[in-house]
Amino acid sequence: MKECLKLIKERRSITFFDPHKEVPEELIKEILEVSATAPSGYNLQPWEVIVVRDREKKKRLKEICYGQQKVEDASANIVLLANTRAGFEHVDRVLQSWEELGYIKPEARESLRLQIISGWQDPQRAFRKAVRDTALFGMTIMITARAYGLETHPMEGYDEQKLKEFLGVEEHKVIPMIIAIGYKDPTKELLPRAYRFSFEEFGKFL
Ligand SMILES: Cc1cc2nc3c(=O)[nH]c(=O)nc-3n(C[C@H](O)[C@H](O)[C@H](O)COP(=O)(O)O)c2cc1C
Repeated sequence: MKECLKLIKERRSITFFDPHKEVPEELIKEILEVSATAPSGYNLQPWEVIVVRDREKKKRLKEICYGQQKVEDASANIVLLANTRAGFEHVDRVLQSWEELGYIKPEARESLRLQIISGWQDPQRAFRKAVRDTALFGMTIMITARAYGLETHPMEGYDEQKLKEFLGVEEHKVIPMIIAIGYKDPTKELLPRAYRFSFEEFGKFL
């Protein structure tokens, strides 16, 4: 419990990564698989990732991210994709698992399938669902990375169309963020964490 609070409070967007310290591919995979326990509407898990580790590809990615140096210095950049067709593409896998685990009876499957799919028909709703769940996955990646002693930096500063072309991403997939991941450059100091609104400013009880 205390450990989890510490990870959340310690997380920072790290601007200075150690360009010489690599994160093994296996460790990145482990972090992503742990993070995939994040919740999602109807457990549809609309996220995908493309992890950019190759040195030359990171240089091109940096250009697409308007020259953000951390993209090149980080060991890897996790490009998050939100699949706006996940409702249609993942529903059968989800229902299969629910049936096997005894969550639902076989006769309930078809009506539930129609109910789930209906939420993904409207493009705006599908966009919201896909991006919302993928953002939860992203936050989980950042906390999990801290648990493994790694640092991260979320980014929205990129030309999405150029990024999609570079990575060959289909039109129906959205890129809500990129998460740079790596080790902090030990010679650099971060400024203190910037101001956060207090509960009185952002919340109320009814
Ligand atoms: C979705 C998202 C996109 C962001 N995009 C960028 C970015 O492109 N470049 C950047 O320098 N910081 C970016 N940030 C980092 C924020 O500026 C940072 O989280 C905020 O200032 C709070 O700092 P902290 O994360 O260290 O607490 C982004 C953060 C989020 C959550």
